[in-house]
Amino acid sequence: MTRLFGVIGHPISHSLSPVMHTAAFTALHLDALYSPFEVPAAILKPILKGLLAAGVEGLNVTVPLKETVVPLMDHLDVTAQAIGAVNTIVIRRQKTIGYNTDVVGFRRVLVEDLRYDCRGKTVLLLGAGGAARAVGWALVGLCPKRIWIVNRTYTKAKHLVRDLCRATALYHSPRRIRWGMGFAALPLDALTQVMQEVDVLVNATSLGLYVSDPIPVVPSSLHKNLVVVDLIYHRDTPLLKAARRRCAVAIGGLSMLLYQGVESLRLWLRRPAPIEAMRRALVRVVNKVSG
Ligand code: ATR
Repeated sequence: MTRLFGVIGHPISHSLSPVMHTAAFTALHLDALYSPFEVPAAILKPILKGLLAAGVEGLNVTVPLKETVVPLMDHLDVTAQAIGAVNTIVIRRQKTIGYNTDVVGFRRVLVEDLRYDCRGKTVLLLGAGGAARAVGWALVGLCPKRIWIVNRTYTKAKHLVRDLCRATALYHSPRRIRWGMGFAALPLDALTQVMQEVDVLVNATSLGLYVSDPIPVVPSSLHKNLVVVDLIYHRDTPLLKAARRRCAVAIGGLSMLLYQGVESLRLWLRRPAPIEAMRRALVRVVNKVSG
């Protein structure tokens, strides 16, 4: 029988997960389907129930459902529970287990792709939604000197700072907490002012998803010593282009998409994912769209 998987979100037509996972199933000679499901938050609960009844074995969760889906899970992996955001659901015997593979995804981008050592560095994280929460958790494990968070809704940035402080207590010794990492939620209007002190800039907002979206920072505030990671993966965003013009290192979200997908697939199938086939499929579709 054909095995069923998919991704839920709103909007969902932009998602490249179907391309990536379909390539994986083909490479593994697996009789399986991976479909996108357009799910506004208001109807998440009945849709999830319907997908379970249809026999779906695994789901990815994207904008804007990563936090909304958390209370609907039967079980939560310890990391997903701490973060308060789920991007992967494993369904076994009609029960849902929520995971967050974005943490591993972001970590692999910094450590494997960029070979970047965060220790002693200042990281500015834009956004405080589900994706930003996962990035924050990954960063805590990489021990930067400071993590600053800026978000359109300031209270959400403050909540994320509070939660990351708690996460630090789980990861690190009390000595490091006292003398080590510093966290702060900065107001939006401080963004340009602090940029000169920033070593790593991460865009985890949804700005860039649409072609008409504005750039989230003033381009002239970007500098050549910056590393810029934009989680948007569909195109070279105005942020990435502006960063490159200033000779900064700039990387889009395609690698993070790949790594989180590899981890999701491993959880669903309990076997290693065919990473090169998945990478090739993603690169092919992005080149086609942008070319
Ligand atoms: P995801 O799961 O991808 O993180 P999300 O939880 O909906 O999606 O979070 C989207 C993030 O992008 C939030 O930080 C959001 O800011 P708010 O917390 O103020 O909503 C940010 N965002 C979305 N649209 C934005 C816009 N037009 N300008 C600035 N920030 C925006």
